[in-house]
Amino acid sequence: MSGYTFSAENLKEIDKLLKRYPSKEALTLPILWMVQNDLGYLSNIALREASKILDMPTSHFYSVASFYTMFKFKKSEKVFVELCKSLSCELNNSDELYEYLKTRDDIELVRVECLGSCGSSPMCAINGKYHENLNIKKLDTILGDKDAL
Ligand code: FES
Repeated sequence: MSGYTFSAENLKEIDKLLKRYPSKEALTLPILWMVQNDLGYLSNIALREASKILDMPTSHFYSVASFYTMFKFKKSEKVFVELCKSLSCELNNSDELYEYLKTRDDIELVRVECLGSCGSSPMCAINGKYHENLNIKKLDTILGDKDAL
């Protein structure tokens, strides 16, 4: 990658958020999401651009992003699955889903704490989108529909 430029749409959104949020630092997560949604991961070049926009060190973005499992620092062709491992999902057989997902080599799998969708457990996020009330058959159907991912 030779460079990264925030789109006009993203810059407009940043301006809007700057007026609404109490500090520039509060825009850290929205900007990280913009980059990841744009590239599929957080590139060094994009984070340097983000640091210029917020006038903060690049290390700030790394320190925040590295705290969360949903941010990625490497580009991957694999489908990114965050499988909840907390109580409601565990009680509803998320371990069975985990064993199934481990067998697939087209998936980058991360087990995460509660994603806030306990009432529809077991669940996971696939490329950031929630899929709920899962069983192996339903999960297999979802993963087979590459256009919907
Ligand atoms: S326990 Fe899985 S979403 Fe809350």
